[in-house]
Amino acid sequence: MNKILQVRNLTVRLNRHPHTELVSNVSFELAENSCLGILGESGSGKTMLCRSMLGLLDESFTVTGQAVFQGRDLLQAAPEELRLLRGSKSCMILQNPMTAFDPLWRVGAQMTETFRSHRALTEKQAETLAIEVLGRMQLREPEQIIAKYPHQLSGGMLQRVMIGIALALEPDLIIADEPTTALDSVTQFEVMEEFCRIRERLHTAMIFISHDFGVISRIADRILVMNKGRAVEEGSKEDIFCRAEEEYTRYLIGTRAALMKKYHQALRGGEAKELTACAAKGTGGL
Ligand SMILES: Nc1ncnc2c1ncn2[C@@H]1O[C@H](COP(=O)(O)OP(=O)(O)OP(=O)(O)O)[C@@H](O)[C@H]1O
Ligand SMILES: [Mg+2]
Repeated sequence: MNKILQVRNLTVRLNRHPHTELVSNVSFELAENSCLGILGESGSGKTMLCRSMLGLLDESFTVTGQAVFQGRDLLQAAPEELRLLRGSKSCMILQNPMTAFDPLWRVGAQMTETFRSHRALTEKQAETLAIEVLGRMQLREPEQIIAKYPHQLSGGMLQRVMIGIALALEPDLIIADEPTTALDSVTQFEVMEEFCRIRERLHTAMIFISHDFGVISRIADRILVMNKGRAVEEGSKEDIFCRAEEEYTRYLIGTRAALMKKYHQALRGGEAKELTACAAKGTGGL
């Protein structure tokens, strides 16, 4: 299958500590119409990896290696080219939604501005789209939400606004960094279904970072496990959950298996359940 993204030897260093690698020699490939889940403990470099690929790190970091997206090495692209590419071709849903919005602008204005800078829409069409996507994100009274400033919305609401923007832009690649952490489990379920619908309808390639195995097992085909800035293991989700080769992966799966249990009720379909049972069995049960 064609590759939409090829990451080779990606390394991120902090300029004031050039001997410390925050991301160390990470390589992976993402096929078109596929979803890679990234698992790893807090501080393992998941966010750094994704932000560095899209040119979202400031000048205090040095990034080396390659991140070839649709044939273009993003690490060689000029800032303006990257800015245009973000939104139209690729979108990153940031871990901290508050940082994604300008506090001085109403949410609706930020949504319509983003839509109009990437799609040929009138102001009215952009506003209609904003209201429609907020509804799809299970946000009640979207007409009132678009009139508010970011600080007037909760973290979970802003997270859904951000996901709604990304899904409405219909990019070729979505990178979602812990996109559902601030949501209650029912909303999380609905939002995950929306991600899955987008995958099915538009064949969008995705990179999905989550601590939550239920979320990962619902959406990902393959999984990359990170530890201390390194890619420890990569494989199909069945391999990673049920037949992991690396001890670290087995440890991580074991400590998180309990978390998956709550998804038995919340997730539709038997697949997540089977993987949960498999992960639990592989680690001596829950
Ligand atoms: N702005 C920064 N300046 C210096 N070091 C940073 C900065 N942001 C992150 N780091 C360091 O980079 C490493 C990787 O952090 P990163 O945020 O990528 O982890 P993560 O896997 O996304 O963790 P989490 O699951 O908590 O989001 C950590 O050691 C962290 O301390
Ligand atoms: Mg992170």
